[in-house]
Amino acid sequence: MRVLVTGGAGYIGSMVCIELLNEGHELFIVDNFSNSDASAITKIMSITGKMVQYANVDITDRNALEVVFRTYSFDSVIHLAGKKSVTESIENPLQYYYDNLIGTVMLVQLMQQYGVHSIIFSSSATVYHPESICPIQEIAELKSSSPYGRTKLAIENFFRELCDAHPTFSAVLLRYFNPIGAHSSGEIGEKPLEVPNNLLPYLMDAVSGKRPPLEVFGNDYDTIDGSGIRDFIHVEDLAKGHIKALYYSMEHMGCESFNLGSGTGYSVLQLIETFATANKIEVPYNIGNRRPGDIAISFADITKAQQILGWQPLKNLTEMCQDAWRWQLKLLQEQRVEAQIVYPTKKTV
Ligand code: UFG
Repeated sequence: MRVLVTGGAGYIGSMVCIELLNEGHELFIVDNFSNSDASAITKIMSITGKMVQYANVDITDRNALEVVFRTYSFDSVIHLAGKKSVTESIENPLQYYYDNLIGTVMLVQLMQQYGVHSIIFSSSATVYHPESICPIQEIAELKSSSPYGRTKLAIENFFRELCDAHPTFSAVLLRYFNPIGAHSSGEIGEKPLEVPNNLLPYLMDAVSGKRPPLEVFGNDYDTIDGSGIRDFIHVEDLAKGHIKALYYSMEHMGCESFNLGSGTGYSVLQLIETFATANKIEVPYNIGNRRPGDIAISFADITKAQQILGWQPLKNLTEMCQDAWRWQLKLLQEQRVEAQIVYPTKKTV
């Protein structure tokens, strides 16, 4: 199959591209590199041994995106491009609605114009009502508590209405829980450009001494040890879910949503302990206050994805922590090498 991957140079996008290529598909990446860089594409090629074509295109730039559709033909689109920080979305909702919604509308307009009827959309567990009962099923009430989450929900609604109006269109909505880990080669993984908000990237910065100790946001939740519980899923397993969704989309019209998580909840303190044991390293941390907006417990019911997509997450929490740390060590090494490069200064006459 020939697949257009939007946001294909990002943390999750790059893993999806590796899985697609390993399955023998052809792909074209569009990315605006706002939260990634082209080195991810070089790594995708070196890991898979296959050539990848890409364009530096912002999906809200309809003319630039149209050049891609005019030049290449696609069987499906895997759509991951978009902004993804809850905090940033509260500070700048306009940018979030513009990039996430307008970008998706432009993309779908071009898909219709060029006869592409299948899309896999990167949604999030954040679309669920904060008080949902766990394990959360896809039929649970949808109600998001941040502008970021509401852009995901609005796009989900858009796809549902689009499929109602155009019965030959297929949209698969993948609701990610908490993706962590890195490619098992240690060559590619998450590369936050700013201070990480998410648990594992921050934890690793604290372990490597780049930042102060990790603050555990609250130990007074009604959970096993008082810290929040989340459903951590290895990013490779998550990426494989996209391939299953792609095959499903080729055979089914209409709009369908699937949870992608491990189906098991672990607490923040359990994750810290697993990371320390798995990597034989100390994790410096303090207990702090709850983070506003956080919920106590979130984990998925993954029965639907298992039964309908035939998908099964394989990697456990220890493997997620080991793969994440292997990549982090590689990243630190790369950053040290970059810092040592001295560029010649231009001579003034
Ligand atoms: N946490 C800490 N300290 C930190 C960071 C996080 O204790 O420095 C805790 C949080 O309180 C939470 C858990 O670690 O209990 C996970 O927090 P993350 O920020 O890693 O992830 P969230 O579950 O808050 O958010 C994730 C995605 C969002 C998505 C949301 C719901 O990052 O994009 O899941 O699906 F919206």
